[in-house]
Amino acid sequence: MKPYLFETRSFLLFILILISTKNVNAQNTFTLKSPNNKIDVVFSLILSQPYYQVYFDSILVVNKSTLGFVFRDEPPMLDNFRISNVKENYFNEKWATVWGTQDSVINEYNQLIISLEEKDDLARKMNIIFKVYDDGIGFRYQFPEQPNMNDAVIMDELTEFRLTGDHNCWWIPGDYDSYEYLYNNTKLSKIDLRPYNYESRGDRHQPNHKAVNTPITMETKDGLFLSFHEANLTDYAGITLEANEDLSLKVDLVPWSDGTKVKTKVPFKTPWRTIQISISAQNLIASNLIINLNEPNKLDDVSWIEPMKYIGIWWEMHLGKSSWSMNAIDGSWANNSKNHGATTSNAKRYIDFASSNNIKGILIEGWNTGWEYWGADTLDYFDFVTPYADFDIKEVVKYANEKGVEIIGHHETGGQAANYEKHLEKAFSFYNSIGIRAVKTGYAGQIIPKGEYHHGQYMVRHYRKVLETAAKYKIMLNAHEPIAATGLRRTYPNMMTREGVRGMEFNAWSDGNPPEHTTIIPFTRMLSGPIDYTPGIFDLTFDKYKDKERVYTTLAKQLAYYIIIYSPMQMAADLPENYLDNPAFDFIRKVPVDWSQSKYLNSKIGDYVTIARKNGDNWYLGSITDEFARSISVSLSFLDSDKIYKAIIYKDGKKADWKTNPTDFEITEDYVDSTMRLRLQLAKGGGQAIIFEPFKNK
Ligand code: NOJ
Ligand code: CA
Repeated sequence: MKPYLFETRSFLLFILILISTKNVNAQNTFTLKSPNNKIDVVFSLILSQPYYQVYFDSILVVNKSTLGFVFRDEPPMLDNFRISNVKENYFNEKWATVWGTQDSVINEYNQLIISLEEKDDLARKMNIIFKVYDDGIGFRYQFPEQPNMNDAVIMDELTEFRLTGDHNCWWIPGDYDSYEYLYNNTKLSKIDLRPYNYESRGDRHQPNHKAVNTPITMETKDGLFLSFHEANLTDYAGITLEANEDLSLKVDLVPWSDGTKVKTKVPFKTPWRTIQISISAQNLIASNLIINLNEPNKLDDVSWIEPMKYIGIWWEMHLGKSSWSMNAIDGSWANNSKNHGATTSNAKRYIDFASSNNIKGILIEGWNTGWEYWGADTLDYFDFVTPYADFDIKEVVKYANEKGVEIIGHHETGGQAANYEKHLEKAFSFYNSIGIRAVKTGYAGQIIPKGEYHHGQYMVRHYRKVLETAAKYKIMLNAHEPIAATGLRRTYPNMMTREGVRGMEFNAWSDGNPPEHTTIIPFTRMLSGPIDYTPGIFDLTFDKYKDKERVYTTLAKQLAYYIIIYSPMQMAADLPENYLDNPAFDFIRKVPVDWSQSKYLNSKIGDYVTIARKNGDNWYLGSITDEFARSISVSLSFLDSDKIYKAIIYKDGKKADWKTNPTDFEITEDYVDSTMRLRLQLAKGGGQAIIFEPFKNK
């Protein structure tokens, strides 16, 4: 029996720690096992150089790989070490989430701390810490306080992952400014040989043609699934991985404008380098490795943090029905319509809709002055507090509150991070003072100060400052053009969701996201954390606004996204007028955004995936397919065995096809129990969403 206590969400449920120190005399190899004994990490010092290896069930997964650093002002730390101390410990806790895909998380691992010291007079010290879990490993470097090391400018982190086969990989290019790409699926050896199509991203992006962004996910010939990323990215540069011909990936940190990688001071720790390992693709999604490698919640009061569905004055700008700016100038990206979207009366229309449809939040973009310069050659045009003349923000917030809903604020920075920092305190305290408790941020454009990248240390510091300032003013964040998620939502549960993906908006103004895209992102981008993908488009071709562009799914697949693509802030992205009178909208009205349990039922990366999640007594199921129609049989054994459930099934109609008939759609009902199987018929580019409500006890 497991000695766990209660299933509530507000406190730590259980902890166990055992510590031992090893006798290190003359020993140069140490092995650390996962709690279930399946994964081994082997650390070795060979000719004074540290290496690590990883095995799963005795299969070599990562061959002897290098660890170390190159600095600007001092000799590298790489191959001149002796082991000065080794410590090992076992840790086991169960912690309660504030929100998430499950109400509590088991954090159980074995830890090995190798203390290294240089053999010459400098005698610089570096510790390498490994944590081995049942679902993968994490390791980080730690530089303790020491006499011969103070300021450190890192030019290169030498961490490698030497893979043992030419695995099948899903990856996006190592762009230092963006994760908004379709995924490539190639052999590991082909990563740097593929021509990338950067056209849709414009000149401002600075791709590294030999590297990939993370998470990168792969399948081995032995049927193992691996994913590489990082956890707890704090005051350091973001990661990319350089793919080399010898099947190794090497850390390639995103640089500062002066070409250095990390500016720091001893003592410091790097983020965790993570490898998730699983015998099925869907179990990668179940992994909690990345949040477990972050610190516990730092916020005393979390009563103001609340997952929510939201609508927004948003899609209408992307379609060109209205504009962000009240009066656009030539050269501005906001110069897309003469009709301003964020007016008091339009906001009230959205508020009325949200309040009668069980939707808590209303995002309003384009409410503040400055948008007329967005994308033009002007600096510092946003002050984040001055509304346009046709938008009475206090009146709008008051109207929303009277109707039991709330406004989600918006801070687009145009990439001008330094300007945003100048206004940060004032901007958040303004929102706080009028009762706004959620803000979407945006960094569309090149970072100013010029030369810095979205994923470099300058911006990692910036994003953290924004997150901490938001917490201070009791504001939840949804970041667009963000730094990748690395599990910080555990420490700062006001870090709700983020973009960092090629999301729905691309369907409005580019050649779109093909049906396969969302059958890949649950196994790649979503392993890092929640995604503000903005699902729920019902008018899939929007011919009234655009001839060529469209959404590449059926309507039922849009509903399934609410289960598949996890986010604690989940948008109903379409125009309110497209939801009215559509019975399918009932699903969006009812679907929750916070879960006590999740079950990952079946999958094939790039083909299909099925997930079930629980909230209260109800279960919800989502299943999606790529461009092929599929018939998928799922066991309902996840349902409580003592109940009969009513299943309300939102599915593709018999003639549904994303290309020719995307809105063909049916709702049916059935009575089911946990002993049964259901057959899901998914159309080409289709999906299915099901609500299971307890009907009676058996
Ligand atoms: C890009 C964001 O992803 C999108 O959601 C937003 O509407 C625009 N920038 C404007 O801020
Ligand atoms: Ca496919």
